[in-house]
Amino acid sequence: MKISVIGVGYLGATHAICMASLGHEVIAVDVDPQKVALLNTGVVPFYEPGLTQLLGTANAQSNLTFTTDYSDASNCDIHFLCIGTPQTENELHADLTALENAFESVIKIAKPGSLIVGKSTVPVGTAQRLATNLAERKPGVLLNWNPEFLREGHAIADTLQPNRIVIGANTENGAEALANFYKLVSPEAPIFITNFPTAELVKVAANAFLATKISFINAMSEVADATGADVTLLADAIGADDRIGRKFLGSGIGFGGGCLPKDIRAFLARADELGLAESLNFLKEFDLINQRARTRAVALALKELGNPKGKKIAVLGAAFKPDSDDVRDSPALEIAETLHALGASVVVHDPRALESAAAKIPELTYSDSIEETLTQADLTMHLTEWGEYRALDPALVKKLVKVPTIFDGRNVLDVAKWQNAGWKLLALGRAL
Ligand code: UDX
Repeated sequence: MKISVIGVGYLGATHAICMASLGHEVIAVDVDPQKVALLNTGVVPFYEPGLTQLLGTANAQSNLTFTTDYSDASNCDIHFLCIGTPQTENELHADLTALENAFESVIKIAKPGSLIVGKSTVPVGTAQRLATNLAERKPGVLLNWNPEFLREGHAIADTLQPNRIVIGANTENGAEALANFYKLVSPEAPIFITNFPTAELVKVAANAFLATKISFINAMSEVADATGADVTLLADAIGADDRIGRKFLGSGIGFGGGCLPKDIRAFLARADELGLAESLNFLKEFDLINQRARTRAVALALKELGNPKGKKIAVLGAAFKPDSDDVRDSPALEIAETLHALGASVVVHDPRALESAAAKIPELTYSDSIEETLTQADLTMHLTEWGEYRALDPALVKKLVKVPTIFDGRNVLDVAKWQNAGWKLLALGRAL
C-alpha cells in the first residue's frame, strides 16, 4: 500500500521506517529540511535502539522516501499524521499549531477515497472538529483517530507488535480500511473501534494512569521518609497483588519526557474548558508530587554536602529514561541544573544524551567518560537507570571518588553490593 507519514519525530520516523520494512511504499514528509536530509542519508536524528539498522535494511531503503514536499504524497491511500503537540509555553494546554498546519497541507493533496489518520495526542474534541472541516473541504476523504502508545527505547517493538490498536471513527464502517491495514501489521493485536472522543481519551487516560501510578508510589516514598518505612519493599509487597501490579511503581525522582508531564497538564487544561476541573483535580496533585521528587533529591544532596560551593557532584544520567537521548523535562537534567545553580561543580555523564543535554543546558560540564565524571567526586548521583551504571563495580569506582557516597535516584542499585564495597547509599523513601 502507498502511505504517507507526516512528521518524522520519534513517532513518525519510527512508524515510517517500520511500515517500509513491512513492504509498504512510504513517503515521509517533514517541514524540517535538515531532518529530511539526514534521514535520506540513512541517519536517524535521535537515538532509538535498532532504528538506524532497520532504516539501513533493503526493504526500508527501497520503499521509503523522505521529503519536504507534500505533493510527493498526493497519490497515497493513507496519510498518517505524526505531529508533536507540545505543551504551550507558560500554559498547561497542548499547542496544536503544527498539527493544524500539517492537517491543512494534507487536505490540499489528499486524493478522493484516501484516508487521513491522526496519531498525535490531542485534546478530546479535536478529531471531530478536524473531521467537520475535512467533510466541508474534501468530501470523500475520511478521518480516523488512531493514538500511538509507543515507549521510547521500545519504539520498534511497540510499533510492530503493539499490545492494542485503537481506531476512532465517526461513521459505522469508517474504521474498516485502517483495521484491515493493521491486521496485516500485527494479526495478534486486539483492535478497539471507538468513536472519536473515546479514541482521544484512551491515550490521555492511559498516560494519566501511568503518571498516577508513579506519583502514587512517590507519595508513599514521602510517607516512608517520615516514618522509617522502605518504599521499594512496600512497592514489591503491594505489587504482588496482581490487581495492583509492580510495573510503574518504580519510585525515585519521578517521571519526565515528552509525553507524561505534558499530557497530564493538557488533560487538566481540557477538563477545565469542559467544566470538569474537579474530575481531574487529582492529576494536579500528582504533577506536584512529581515535581517534589526532584526537589527532595536536591535537598538530600544539600543535606549530605553542606555548602555545595566548590563541591564536585558526579551526575550519572541526563536522559529522562534509559535507552533514549531525549532530555525533554528530564528529572536528571533538572536536578543537575539546580545543583549547578546552587554553586556545586556538576559533571554530567550519559551514554547517549550528552549532545541533546548540552544543547538544552549548555552551562553544565559534560563528560563522555564515567571515569572522568567520578574522579574526585564529593557526591555521586545516579539519576537515569542505564544498564552501564547498574553494571559498575562499586569497589573499582570507589577508588576514583573523593567521598564514596552515592544517591540512587531510581532505586535500582544493588544496595548490599554498594554498601559492602564501602559506599554510603542515599535514596528517597528508603530505610538504608
Ligand atoms: C510514555 C508511555 O509509556 C507511552 O505509552 C506513551 O505512548 C508515551 O509516553 P515514554 O515517555 O517513552 O512513554 O516513557 P515511559 O517509559 O512511560 O516513562 C516515563 C517516565 O516515567 C520516565 O521518566 C521514567 O523514568 C519514569 N518512570 C517510569 C518512573 O519514574 N517509574 C516507573 O516505575 C516507570
